Amino acid sequence: MSSKQDSRALRFYSDVLGLEHLHYGLWETQEELTLANLKAAQARYQQAIIDLLPPPPVRILDVGCGTGELSKALKAIGYEMEGLSPDINHLDSYAEKVGQAFHHCVFEDFEPQEKFDVVIMSESCQYIALDRLFDVLSRSMKDKAVWIVADYFVKDGTRGIIAKSGHSYTEFQRAVAASPVTMDYDRDITEAVLPTLDFADNLVARGELALSMLKQRIDQRSFILSKIVNFILWLARKEIKKLDENRILIDSAAFKEAKTYRLMRFVRD
Ligand SMILES: C[S@@+](CC[C@H](N)C(=O)[O-])C[C@H]1O[C@@H](n2cnc3c(N)ncnc32)[C@H](O)[C@@H]1O
Repeated sequence: MSSKQDSRALRFYSDVLGLEHLHYGLWETQEELTLANLKAAQARYQQAIIDLLPPPPVRILDVGCGTGELSKALKAIGYEMEGLSPDINHLDSYAEKVGQAFHHCVFEDFEPQEKFDVVIMSESCQYIALDRLFDVLSRSMKDKAVWIVADYFVKDGTRGIIAKSGHSYTEFQRAVAASPVTMDYDRDITEAVLPTLDFADNLVARGELALSMLKQRIDQRSFILSKIVNFILWLARKEIKKLDENRILIDSAAFKEAKTYRLMRFVRD
C-alpha cells in the first residue's frame, strides 16, 4: 500500500469510525463484531503494551504515535512522553491530547538529542525501513532501555499484494540478531487481531449491498439515470477492479495464512 493510501485509511478509521487508536486491537474469543467491541479490543491492546513497561517515571518515545492516544494514556499514569510521526495531521492532535514534544519526521530521519528509557512502535515498525531502523534505534536507546514492538510480519513464501505490508518476519529476525537488542518477551497475537479484519469486511459487504440495492432501484425507475450510472461505473472500472483485488487485504483467513502478529519486547545490551 502507498503511504498516501495508508494515510487515507488511517483518516477513515479516525474521522469516519471515530477510532482514536489506529491498530488492530486485541479481541477475546467469540466477541460480537461491533464498533464498541473493536474499541474495547483496542483498549485491551493498549493495556497489553502498558503491562510490558518498566514503572514510571521513565522517558518514552512513541514512534508512529498516530493521534497520540497511547501517549496520552501513558502521560496520565506518570510517564514522560515524546511522539513521532511523519503525518502532519498527528502534529495537531498530539499537541492537543498530549502537549509534549512531537517530532514530525519519519523514524529513519530522527536525530535523537537525548536517549530514551523506552521506545514503543505500536503498529508502526512495518513502515520503517529495516536497513535504517536499528541504527536510529540504537542511537535513541539508553543502555538496558526497552523496545516494544506490536506489529504484523509477513511469513516466508507469501506472494502478491498481501505480502506488501509488513516486514518479512525472517528478515526482521535476522536484523534483530545483528543488532544490539535482545528479545525477552514474544507473544503471538495473530488470532486475537483477526476480528478487526472481519469487522472491516462486514462493513464493506454492507456498503456493497446498499450500493447494489440503490443501483437496482435506479435501473427500475429511470432509463436515463440508469445509463448515466452505468457510464460512471464504466469510467471507474479500473478503480473498481483495484478495490476488488484489494479485498484480500481484509480477508482474515488470508491474513492468518500470510502473516504473524507479534507483541514483543527487547532490551538493549
Ligand atoms: C497504523 S498507525 C499506528 C498509530 C499508533 N501507534 C497506534 O497504535 O494507534 C501507523 C503510524 O506510523 C506512522 N508512520 C508511517 N511511516 C512511518 C515512519 N517511516 N516512521 C515513523 N512513523 C511512521 C504513521 O504516520 C502512523 O502514525
